Amino acid sequence: MTAPVTPSRLAPLQRHHLASLQRAYGEVLTRLGLDGVLLYSGHPRRHFADDQEASFAAYGHFMHWTGQADLARSWLLIQPGQRPRLKVHAPDDFWHLPARLPDEAWVATFDIEMGRDDAPPALPAGRFAVLGDVSATLAEALGADRNPPALVGALDEGRVRKSDYEIACLGDANRQAMAGHRAARETFLDGGAELDIQLAYLGASRQRETALPYASIVGLNAHGGVLHYQHYDSVAPLRRCSLLLDGGHRFRGYCADITRSWSGPDADPAFAALIEGITALQRRLIDRLVPGVDYVALHQGMHEGLGELLAEQGLVHCSPEAAVSRGITRAFCPHGLGHSLGLQVHDVAGRVDGAGRVLPPPEAHPALRLTRRLEAGMVVTMEPGLYVIPMLLAPFREGAAGRDIDWARVERLADHGGIRIEDNVVITPTGHDNLTPPE
Ligand code: GLY
Ligand code: MN
Ligand code: MN
Repeated sequence: MTAPVTPSRLAPLQRHHLASLQRAYGEVLTRLGLDGVLLYSGHPRRHFADDQEASFAAYGHFMHWTGQADLARSWLLIQPGQRPRLKVHAPDDFWHLPARLPDEAWVATFDIEMGRDDAPPALPAGRFAVLGDVSATLAEALGADRNPPALVGALDEGRVRKSDYEIACLGDANRQAMAGHRAARETFLDGGAELDIQLAYLGASRQRETALPYASIVGLNAHGGVLHYQHYDSVAPLRRCSLLLDGGHRFRGYCADITRSWSGPDADPAFAALIEGITALQRRLIDRLVPGVDYVALHQGMHEGLGELLAEQGLVHCSPEAAVSRGITRAFCPHGLGHSLGLQVHDVAGRVDGAGRVLPPPEAHPALRLTRRLEAGMVVTMEPGLYVIPMLLAPFREGAAGRDIDWARVERLADHGGIRIEDNVVITPTGHDNLTPPE
């Protein structure tokens, strides 16, 4: 774990981060023959025929400089060798409090205009690109190239290896998320409903729902087997077998993405053993994290470990190897081992190599979001899981493969939904550092 962050420790790290960013942008823009790039933070969508807006998160490349996830309708102009120029949308408005800038080191290093309108700033003469959620008409009026793939690809690549500043922010996001996980577990053990657990999570991690990096997944019992379960039941079930909570936090734009699974007072004893097995598998996989390791091989390692666990716990009668080769482990865990993490929960450039060549996931594992070799500075999630998903297990009931699975044991676990254990880990020059604190 990294040391807790304080604003005074972060300020020099942030200045260093910005100086590196300035250099990296300068190199990319010069290589592509551009005089600058205008980054648009974006704007929230309005519900159709309504005056209410959906929640919002700023464009990742805008946040890379500012960390401001909620600064909408604002523009940042980057030119090699010049101070960044930020136009913040801050209209005279008695309905809302105008946008505020944080007390952070970056503010003093930018030229900042508090703009009454959300129009882009006029561009100097030269060749410019504009990146973000802008219309073709607006890009044309600016005379700028809109989201050119070569520039977007190069800037995405610049977000793959995190600076010390970014790692400190990701560490802090993890600490705050874990405070939420601890409170959520207490609420579960006290008999709370999914909604109570979510409210306890938000309260203890000190965040409102719209500021979450993703909607918390709070699954009691069978709901833990719905991978992106999206409801919060307000009534607690009578039997409490399990809780799966996947909950995050943002700190200065950077996301935590942590999952914990707990067995409840009415759980089948086999479920607790499976949680222990997945926790141990996750630790073994984390132990393998060093620069140079192929993440696809780690993902395959997860399936080998799942095959062993299923055989050990009597959920399959075949060998661990057969459980993998016959696709049984994929039916118990259809998602990837993890993904890159940063300003986006599923961060950019997970499926390309450093030169921008596409690295598709293996055909049998289309959900794997990270297919690169690991490098120092990457931050990845490690999230093996095991679920009872009737839709995926059903095809195995027919034919020879049907005899491989102990259906009676599977049925006993169906009410428990599933298990996922997810930590956030930075790759260091010699190994790794787990950013997720212990419970
Ligand atoms: N929370 C989404 C994920 O784990 O990928
Ligand atoms: Mn997650
Ligand atoms: Mn994740």
